[in-house]
Amino acid sequence: MNTKNNNAPLGIFDSGVGGLTVVKEINKILPNENLIYFGDTKHVPYGDKSKETIIYYSKQITEFLIKENCKAIVIACNTATANAHKDIVELAKKFKIPVFDVITPVAEKVGLELNQKIGVIATKGTINSGIYKKKIKKFNKSIEVLELATSLLVPIIEEGLVNSDISKETIKYYLANKKLSNIDALILGCTHYPLISKEINKYFNGNVKIIDSPLIVANQIQYYFKKNNLLSDNTNKGDLKFYLSDYTNNFEKLAKKFFGNEIYLTEIKL
Ligand code: DGL
Repeated sequence: MNTKNNNAPLGIFDSGVGGLTVVKEINKILPNENLIYFGDTKHVPYGDKSKETIIYYSKQITEFLIKENCKAIVIACNTATANAHKDIVELAKKFKIPVFDVITPVAEKVGLELNQKIGVIATKGTINSGIYKKKIKKFNKSIEVLELATSLLVPIIEEGLVNSDISKETIKYYLANKKLSNIDALILGCTHYPLISKEINKYFNGNVKIIDSPLIVANQIQYYFKKNNLLSDNTNKGDLKFYLSDYTNNFEKLAKKFFGNEIYLTEIKL
């Protein structure tokens, strides 16, 4: 049971700009909640780091969010979920704080609702863990899950090179991989990828169902908060605070594009 005030903020984190796609959906369906976002821009990308390093950074950020009095933690990063979920849950449990992640609800939905050939693209750190296949197969043993690491996409997105020749060629290079031929649906197993979902959809000419996590996760949080009486009783719009471990222009640009110019953005060294 959570002992925090209902108007305490929800703490959300990722390695960089990717988690903003999750913040956007949470803010859309729970506009009265106060949100704190931490983007670990100093250490992005997480995808090619060791499990130990990802656990270390994720725990530091979780500690920071707990100190900020957050009533729940959202791991808005697939790579951190795949490698550090257990450690984050253990840490948050001491403070009776629930933890949400971006893989579990997606795997459940896909496993229960689809019965086709499912592709997953994600970072090396996520793909090497095999987490999507494991979790989806828990719900549907006969489903075929084909996983592919697409490591260059995060650096391209962090550089703000969305909709450029580089992103187009890189997307083409990865999606032409034999593993993904004849898939019916593709899971964007990285929270950065919704930022290039239009380009991915274009590559497939709209013939492959694209599944991403932000809305699925936001719905799950809303359901949990309602059920556990954790919704904020704020009648005004919630505060949005953004913390970065290293200031980047692209982060500020994207955060302002999503949430307007009046956002609170601070660089903080952990
Ligand atoms: N958004 C993170 C994820 O969902 C990106 C990981 C990275 O920094 O490589 O996996």
